[in-house]
Amino acid sequence: MQSIAKRNSLLVAAAFVLLTSATFAQEKKQASLYDRLGGVYAIASVVDDFIERLLVNDVLNANPAIKEARARVPKAGLKYRVTELVCQVTGGPQKYTGRSMKDAHKHLNITEKEWDAMVADFKVTLNKFKVPAKEQEELIGIVASTKPDIVMAPAAGKK
Ligand code: HEM
Repeated sequence: MQSIAKRNSLLVAAAFVLLTSATFAQEKKQASLYDRLGGVYAIASVVDDFIERLLVNDVLNANPAIKEARARVPKAGLKYRVTELVCQVTGGPQKYTGRSMKDAHKHLNITEKEWDAMVADFKVTLNKFKVPAKEQEELIGIVASTKPDIVMAPAAGKK
């Protein structure tokens, strides 16, 4: 009798462990990228650092159209809009209110080389904030999906 009771309590313990890990797995699966990144305050901090980097990036500022926009566009507004966009596409409750990526960048003649310089800065920022590899990969994937709308000028001819 005692051994049956012992076996039963082992079974109950095993079932509990299985249930608990299944619940955790479910929760993990359901957490949006927005939540995994830490929500709007964390995302705004990442965007802030990233845009500060872009503003002093020599590769980007060698493009006269980008340099002109840098002087004309208030950086607080740009950070706000990029934050809104990142929040929305990662599953946050915010709604992006700016232009399409095509309309916002078409006058900037952004090249492949400039795109690569932006991605390099983005990675430096993500590492600075210790964003885990999985979340970095997802974010970089989202950014990459906008490339066809943003990179307009051919890489050749500009060095
Ligand atoms: C090399 C790459 C990029 C450069 C040099 C760049 C630069 C700029 C500049 C200068 C503006 C202001 C344009 C203006 O108002 O005249 C702008 C706007 C914006 N960019 Fe980018 N950008 C790049 C990539 C991206 C990416 C990858 C995203 C998001 C995934 C993004 C999101 C935005 C947003 C949301 C705005 C504001 C649009 C609005 O307010 O209507 N940009 N960008």
